[in-house]
Amino acid sequence: MNPTEPAVSAVGLRKSYGDKTVLDGIDLSIPQGTVFALLGPNGAGKTTTVQILSTLIPADGGRAQLAGHDLESDADGVRAAIGVTGQFSAVDNLLTAEENLILMADLHHLGRREGRRRAAELLHRFDLAEAARKPASTFSGGMRRKLDLAMTLVGDPRIIFLDEPTTGLDPRSRRTMWEIIRSLVDDKGVTVFLTTQYLEEADQLADRIAVLDHGVLVAEGTADELKRRVPGGYVRLRFSSPRDLDSAAGLFGTIAKRDPEALTLDIPGDGTIPTLRAVLDVLDAVSVRAEGLTVHTPDLDDVFLALTGGPGAHPAPFLTTDTTPDMTPDTTPVTNLQESAR
Ligand SMILES: Nc1ncnc2c1ncn2[C@@H]1O[C@H](COP(=O)(O)OP(=O)(O)O)[C@@H](O)[C@H]1O
Ligand SMILES: [Mg+2]
Repeated sequence: MNPTEPAVSAVGLRKSYGDKTVLDGIDLSIPQGTVFALLGPNGAGKTTTVQILSTLIPADGGRAQLAGHDLESDADGVRAAIGVTGQFSAVDNLLTAEENLILMADLHHLGRREGRRRAAELLHRFDLAEAARKPASTFSGGMRRKLDLAMTLVGDPRIIFLDEPTTGLDPRSRRTMWEIIRSLVDDKGVTVFLTTQYLEEADQLADRIAVLDHGVLVAEGTADELKRRVPGGYVRLRFSSPRDLDSAAGLFGTIAKRDPEALTLDIPGDGTIPTLRAVLDVLDAVSVRAEGLTVHTPDLDDVFLALTGGPGAHPAPFLTTDTTPDMTPDTTPVTNLQESAR
């Protein structure tokens, strides 16, 4: 497929069970060779999205293409290009690790010799060679997840769906999974679509993150973009004298928080260049000089809470170029900032 084409694209995916709307029009575009994280709380619709995109259940509406194949008219083409590791393990407990992998190879019609070769390679790659002849029932959670992922890779998929790949794993196994997932993308150029409830996981792994809440995508972007969009970030100005601090504090009104000891003034804002420029212009206009300026972004926890309507979802006024659309060159920034302060 054309390398500039997205690995996964979807428009208006919808799904309801009875009168409960589970997905309410999902749009996605995931570039090839990237990790995409669908982040959301329990019941948001993550597994449903994976099930639809991996042809396991039909959507009620919308269209999607995977690896250039149309989900509806060419489901076989889609299936040939993807691998799915579900939320619940596909590992057969009665079989050994090797037998599980060879079973997958048989399902993919790889042939006996190629199947064994692929199984051995994956056991080695995932550090499971020593456990190859042991029944999966004796495996730890982390080993089981690795085996599950190895089984998904037997078919050499270009797009891999991982539904909550590290839920329930201890921190060390989680890190190992992260390394494996990242290396799939970096070494093999596959595209990974993962779902997670862990902000840290999305932050660590994903090139792009979409936040799903009650069947609606409430935000999409890189971890940094999402952090910038959300209240909790601020610009900190440092002054060389209490007098300068006081003058500046007066300009920004009640939205700014001052620390008279440290001679700093924190102004809630998104830290983008236009916002920074607006702040500096306000100071310039009255000839107050800041000694230093630092941008503080919120962490993903703040983002998640704000976007999914948790506590603290609508904190104090906040400066962004999105939320203050009147911040255009023909109105002075001073006016805008003071408006935000009210
Ligand atoms: N087969 C089904 N029948 C009825 N409701 C379902 C079915 N599958 C999922 N749901 C509902 O859809 C919502 C989203 O579920 P799911 O996609 O599993 O969320 P997540 O994976 O984000 O936790 C939940 O409220 C769930 O109860
Ligand atoms: Mg789920």
